[in-house]
Amino acid sequence: DKGNHRHFMEKEIHEQPEVISHTLAHYLDFTQGTSKPLDLPFNFADIDRLAVSACGTAYLAGLVGKYWFERHARLPVDIDVASEFRYREMPISRKSAAFFVSQSGETADTLASLRYCRKEGVPIGAIVNVRESTMARESDVVMPTLAGPEIGVASTKAFTCQLSVLAALTIRAASQRGTITAEEEKALVRSLSETPRYAAQVLKLDKQIEKVSRELASYKHVLYLGRDTNFPLAMEGALKLKEISYIHAEGYAAGELKHGPIALIDENMPVIVIAPHDRIFEKTVSNMQEVAARGGKIILITDQKGAAQATVKTLETIVLPDVPEFIAPIIYALPIQMLAYFTAVFMGTDVDQPRNLAKSVTVE
Ligand code: F6R
Repeated sequence: DKGNHRHFMEKEIHEQPEVISHTLAHYLDFTQGTSKPLDLPFNFADIDRLAVSACGTAYLAGLVGKYWFERHARLPVDIDVASEFRYREMPISRKSAAFFVSQSGETADTLASLRYCRKEGVPIGAIVNVRESTMARESDVVMPTLAGPEIGVASTKAFTCQLSVLAALTIRAASQRGTITAEEEKALVRSLSETPRYAAQVLKLDKQIEKVSRELASYKHVLYLGRDTNFPLAMEGALKLKEISYIHAEGYAAGELKHGPIALIDENMPVIVIAPHDRIFEKTVSNMQEVAARGGKIILITDQKGAAQATVKTLETIVLPDVPEFIAPIIYALPIQMLAYFTAVFMGTDVDQPRNLAKSVTVE
């Protein structure tokens, strides 16, 4: 049932404040300001590497997780798309754990990667949305996303719930490894507790995002740029746009612009820049200047401070609430989903059932 929404995808985008809240409450104790003890078959302090493997959008959630685990828990993360991982015969040390991220819990390549790690004898955790899935059954610990059934083929609420689980696990890992103080743990938990409220605020930008999408629908190619955790988000934005609107899109690390994609920039190639005002905001501003100097049209997704300090002409600036850096990837996921959604609606495509795609890819 779509309720009063035109598509399941729209409904699922709007469910995010609620399902993120449910998911976080499963992992975090908001009154104590701590991560809840999980039934993990290992202690994060006893491992020196984490292998993460997944496909598509779930892979991009894992990639954000890598930035988080490495930054806050000082835990090195190897992340691969599962179709590569399963065949690349990676040596896995005994002091590793392996996490698999999947909405369906049935994706063939991810499951094969899980079985590879099982043979290697490392503890296995599955971050899945379907509790009774094959991956859930075959793992040592199930870390559920509580997104509820996701019907739209393009993943939206499952993605932000995967991010929520990975963020909570990062706090757990950092706490067990002693890389954050109790005060810092409280601050991270507090910032996560605010995500549902910020997400609800972002949903109210739908009129502006719909207007930009009308414009976007007239182009053949779109480039997405971001740095740090916004780099995986740039790839997620491009993935979402191409799969439902069929417009060619690519996501790049903003610093890679000069190493190739800048050759594509002209007035026919809009560039979507995902850049909250953070430690490296100035670097992204210079990338935008490079784009503007070549006639590229910029759609900037940022916050108040970023909008004030971006000394560059944009086609449109979408201003999100100022949010703590830790939770920015969860909040910034929403406008890129909304952009893809409205653009697809303007293109007249089958938003919930895009051509050639299946919700669950159970064959290789
Ligand atoms: C993109 C999308 C796909 C899936 C991928 C993995 O919107 O939905 O890229 O993320 O097929 O599926 P799961 O998460 O079920 O393993």
